[in-house]
Amino acid sequence: MNISLILNDNKVNIDFNPLRPLLEMLREGFALRSLKEGCGRGECGTCTVLLDGKPVTACMVASGQVEGRSVMTLEGLEGNESFRRIQRAFMETGAVQCGFCTPGFLIAAYALLRDNPSPGREDIRRAVSGNLCRCTGYTKIIDAVERAGEILR
Ligand code: FES
Ligand code: FES
Repeated sequence: MNISLILNDNKVNIDFNPLRPLLEMLREGFALRSLKEGCGRGECGTCTVLLDGKPVTACMVASGQVEGRSVMTLEGLEGNESFRRIQRAFMETGAVQCGFCTPGFLIAAYALLRDNPSPGREDIRRAVSGNLCRCTGYTKIIDAVERAGEILR
């Protein structure tokens, strides 16, 4: 099936099986490697992207479902100043260890701070509750999002 979408602010088309996961279409079809396959069943958040501005796990979205819609990955946000500041806050706070989970957390944090510039720690916890990290113990990630919020305000 020919699938048309807005990917990282560019109109694109691809011939891809509409039943295969969006995660595979983005990695294989568009060589976007920031999103990772962790669990493959919606539980770890390593494949998080923005679909029409909302964070979703790309392993749980069928490629055909994004026809005519907007998908944003970390690659598309790299020129965004707010996103870069969030990235920097993660680095400076020690919220990145192996880094496997980091793109997913960054996307979730970006969506949160875009919609709520002054989140409490509970809001942050809720916003990243779909993202798993096996290294950091989460406290530094919550600290990083809190710090990013302060920097962006
Ligand atoms: S790989 Fe998609 S949520 Fe784990
Ligand atoms: S930094 Fe290693 S899984 Fe989160």
